[in-house]
Amino acid sequence: MFVCMCYGVTDKMIKEAVTEQGIGNIRELQQHLTLGEQCGKCINMARNIIDDVIVDETLFKNVG
Ligand code: FES
Repeated sequence: MFVCMCYGVTDKMIKEAVTEQGIGNIRELQQHLTLGEQCGKCINMARNIIDDVIVDETLFKNVG
């Protein structure tokens, strides 16, 4: 699913950035991927995806 239409960034790319590069917030994400610099409509969705992945990761680590 495309999160940022302007730059063609998908939710999968954002999830990978969080899990593989340790991205933890929107500012770090923007240093890693180009998004949110045109219309800015994607920023909230991108932030939610980062938060969701971090919560998932935390739950996973607690299980182990
Ligand atoms: S949708 Fe991301 S900057 Fe426009």
